[in-house]
Amino acid sequence: MDNQNTNSTPNSFPNSALDCSDSPQNTAEKRDWQAYYNETGNRPPRKTILTALNSFSQPGKAVDLGCGVGRDTVEILRRNWQVLAIDKQPEAIAGLLARDNINRELLTTQVMSFEELQLPQGVDLINASFSLSFCHKDAWNNLWETITNAISIGGRFSGNLFGDRDSWRDSGMIHCLSREEMESCLKPYEIELFEEEENFGKTPLGEERYWHIFHVVARKKAE
Ligand SMILES: C[S@@+](CC[C@H](N)C(=O)[O-])C[C@H]1O[C@@H](n2cnc3c(N)ncnc32)[C@H](O)[C@@H]1O
Repeated sequence: MDNQNTNSTPNSFPNSALDCSDSPQNTAEKRDWQAYYNETGNRPPRKTILTALNSFSQPGKAVDLGCGVGRDTVEILRRNWQVLAIDKQPEAIAGLLARDNINRELLTTQVMSFEELQLPQGVDLINASFSLSFCHKDAWNNLWETITNAISIGGRFSGNLFGDRDSWRDSGMIHCLSREEMESCLKPYEIELFEEEENFGKTPLGEERYWHIFHVVARKKAE
């Protein structure tokens, strides 16, 4: 999601900042993803995917998880990678396939949820921009294990995950990780980029919120 900052704050801030405007029954299904795609779909690729791509000497096999209409997918394809683009929303995949600036021969798409995710083995790069946190909390451990198992030794994960001080923490919409949990998830990896962002801002749809985000690029180590 494009976090538009209205203010930058240090790690300590009043608890009122955590008050959540979303009701507990507001699940990921209730997000207006089409409005989000309309607003952000043509924005440039994110720093995390660019950092990851720049670290490879040649193109390989990538998976873009929660690809939306392909804001990052188009860049991965542009660099001649084979891409498996996955999203739960059929309209995301339809929007991606409707683009006229992509090499379809390099692209495979699947409508699939994180809760039921199956991945091929031997993937060089798994990207997940602002998407994995929408996985149901009960499925999180399995999802992360599936991702880590699919990435080859020396392959990379890039993405953006919500932290536990995010204002959507108690909304029932996202699964937030503490910094310790994030670091624990990254134990099989060598960290190449780790930025923790916290600030008041707005979503691309204009909703006021407090952002707590981990921006990550990490390279899978030999076991
Ligand atoms: C904030 S959007 C990000 C889209 C894209 N990665 C980008 O950066 O523009 C989150 C995406 O995750 C997808 N998503 C949310 N929950 C999901 C789930 N449980 N399984 C698979 N995809 C999901 C949504 O459909 C949406 O396209």
